[in-house]
Amino acid sequence: MRRLAIVTAGGDCPGINAVIRAVAKTAINDYGMEVVGILDGFLGLIESRWRKLSYHDVSGIIMLGGTILGTSNRANPFKYAVGKKGDEPEFADVSDTVIANFEKIGASTLIAIGGDGTLHIAQRLYEKGLPVIGIPKTIDNDVDCTDRTFGFDSAVATATEAIDKIHTTAQSHHRVMMVEVMGRYVGWLALFAGVAGGGDVILIPEIPFDIEIVAKRVVERSRRGKRFSIVVVAEGAKSVGGDLVVRKIVKDSTDPVRLGGIADRIAHEIEKRTGLETRVTVLGHLQRGGPPTAFDRVLATRFGSLAAGLAAQGKSGIMVALKGEDIVTVSIADAIARLKSVPPDHDLIKSALSVGTSFGVSELP
Ligand code: F6P
Repeated sequence: MRRLAIVTAGGDCPGINAVIRAVAKTAINDYGMEVVGILDGFLGLIESRWRKLSYHDVSGIIMLGGTILGTSNRANPFKYAVGKKGDEPEFADVSDTVIANFEKIGASTLIAIGGDGTLHIAQRLYEKGLPVIGIPKTIDNDVDCTDRTFGFDSAVATATEAIDKIHTTAQSHHRVMMVEVMGRYVGWLALFAGVAGGGDVILIPEIPFDIEIVAKRVVERSRRGKRFSIVVVAEGAKSVGGDLVVRKIVKDSTDPVRLGGIADRIAHEIEKRTGLETRVTVLGHLQRGGPPTAFDRVLATRFGSLAAGLAAQGKSGIMVALKGEDIVTVSIADAIARLKSVPPDHDLIKSALSVGTSFGVSELP
């Protein structure tokens, strides 16, 4: 019987289980294939840990957050931490072990569910001869060649609900409320949740902000009788000429930089300049948890069942993607060539400006 293997790697997000379910059910129902799940991301392929997934195993999980297979963002087979030299991790390329372990499983294709980091690893494994199909996953929505990654819509919904709640307390106390959302190098999540939550200022990595303009905006609102302001800031936002605010470096991680703290810095500067009381809420991993939205469940199901069908036909080196209303395929190489950032002339930026939202600049870049 032909076998399919599934790996879920990198940071989790809502909708992964819906994809696992769609891949496995389609493979079993339509193609009579057997399905195995690799445990804990690529770590499972390095340590040869996996389990068979029956129809029963993937039933009733469409609404579950997280991943039933576990994940890891510290197990890059091409740069795997094998020990320590003093304080510094020592890395080795263990990709041959991964290929050998994959061969032992006897699967014809690996379905790799992940974001940019995972897809880079998938492409390198594919170049070494391992047949891979990618499925784009991340709350950041930064994978190129697809209009959406699954998980993004759910994170936008969570962040929007949080902003709604912040709104009422901001109003009561006449405060400036900063909401820091995830988004390391791109501002899709801050932009969408900021617009949906009626944010007064939205700060994203693609548009470096001027703190004077941000402060001026909240003062203007105050003068006009709006005695509160909501500022939505992506963790990767930076001021003109400024740097990213790094919370810590996780040396043995696939992407070692962990951001966080920009909202605190801006809050301090706003208070200093305006005298207005300013509070900070960092949404953090809340945005990665919980049940997926209906949109993400549908997208996950479309992505997963197409990927299983492509694997059954022996296709590899490709990623499923959303283009307009259609699910299509693109090469993984094209999808990882660059990160998909928010173009400053995006129509949602124009609409946000038209409804009075500031991006902390006098002119867009
Ligand atoms: O890539 C998705 C993401 O949610 C980023 O926006 C965030 O910076 C990062 O993951 C945090 O990852 P973790 O805390 O799990 O290492």
